[in-house]
Amino acid sequence: MSSTFVQRDRLLEHVKKASGNGSSWRNRMPRQNAIRQLKDRILDDRVTQLALKFIRRYEDSHLKDVWVDSMDDQRRMTMLGREVVNFGSDSLLGLDWHPKVQQAIKDALPVWGTHNGTSRAFTSVALCEEAERKLAKWLGVEATLIFPSVTLANMGLLPGIARKNDLLVVDRTSHETLHEASKVAAAEGATIRELNPCCPDELRSILKREDYEYCVLAVDGVYSMSGGVPPLKELNDVVREFGGIMYCDDAHGTAVVGPKGRGACYEALGTLDEVLMIGSLSKAFSCLGAFVTCDLELQEFLKFCSSTFTFGGPVPPPYLAGVCAVCDLIETPEYDETVGRLRSRMDQLMTGLRSIDVKMAGGVGAVASITVGDIEKTFLAGKFMFDRGFYVQSATYPAVPIMSGILRIQVNANHSEQAIDELLNAFADLKTEYNLPAA
Ligand SMILES: Cc1ncc(COP(=O)(O)O)c(C=O)c1O
Repeated sequence: MSSTFVQRDRLLEHVKKASGNGSSWRNRMPRQNAIRQLKDRILDDRVTQLALKFIRRYEDSHLKDVWVDSMDDQRRMTMLGREVVNFGSDSLLGLDWHPKVQQAIKDALPVWGTHNGTSRAFTSVALCEEAERKLAKWLGVEATLIFPSVTLANMGLLPGIARKNDLLVVDRTSHETLHEASKVAAAEGATIRELNPCCPDELRSILKREDYEYCVLAVDGVYSMSGGVPPLKELNDVVREFGGIMYCDDAHGTAVVGPKGRGACYEALGTLDEVLMIGSLSKAFSCLGAFVTCDLELQEFLKFCSSTFTFGGPVPPPYLAGVCAVCDLIETPEYDETVGRLRSRMDQLMTGLRSIDVKMAGGVGAVASITVGDIEKTFLAGKFMFDRGFYVQSATYPAVPIMSGILRIQVNANHSEQAIDELLNAFADLKTEYNLPAA
């Protein structure tokens, strides 16, 4: 989800002002069952009412919150009673089905059990240190620190590094969790500014204008919805000019973009020595968790600066074994072949989409998006693709700006060439049927 949730907050404030304050709501409510009262309170929000209206109205076409009945190693899955090819999986390299990754997870189970049962502030299993070391070696940094998810890394780290009297600039189009984390940082005294548009000149003017002791720029490496990439090198140059640091959520670049999959941030800067790069272990790694790059001294500081590290649980040991197996794999020619296959499937898709002449974005990592338009049209376009045997994600407001609904495609290394060809045929028909905007 993207920063348009921030717009949603503003909309909510506006709606609340227009409909009176909380006490008038309290006065209106008779004493009832507590859950009923809570539900009524949630329903009192007009944005929620609008969302529910759409959910009900497009029940047969929105394709959200759906149960999957089965899946296989070719990205086929059955849902809603039919078999489709899944173009919505984050497991970008198909490693969820890799025998070595599966075996590593299985082997760790009888040794470590399912969970180490405590916050890492107290103890961590040796496997975690091994995984952090392997990740650091792969990325050419001194150390890494693992979190249970990118969300928890962002929510813990950003308020930990952007403190009272500091300035935290957040790219408006970046991931929702960076915006949520900035609210916590703001509550603890940091000044938050949105970067919009995400360009070096705009960043420079914010950094010149504001008053602060230290500054942090938070951006995505690859935008999760559109698949686009911000100008990371230029942004980093500007933030360094002002003595600050770039914090790059590279969840969608991890293990798929740049040399040896070191990510979009590494590709732009050629090193991760002077940034904080947050990688995902739940997407191309097909395991669970996230990490931040650092050196050993900073690793120690980040542990006690990040509340989610101190007060939350860890990645379960079997998944850490899976992470180690993926790190080992990255060093082999098999990884190069796998990522090469992903690249070639992605190029096949992008070339095909260009020839169909649809308005699209992405392609650097494994995400591409096609602009459709309003919410109804976007849901129906997603359903059209589903009926043709392809699950692509229809993303509408608030995940993307209003009236800019997209179909989001994630290509995986285990998609066949034939599946991509057939997907392109379906897109060509969709373009005609739904009069999709041209490039
Ligand atoms: C850029 C970005 N950041 C954070 C997240 C959240 O990651 P996690 O599921 O590990 O919390 C995602 C997931 O889609 C993402 O794309």
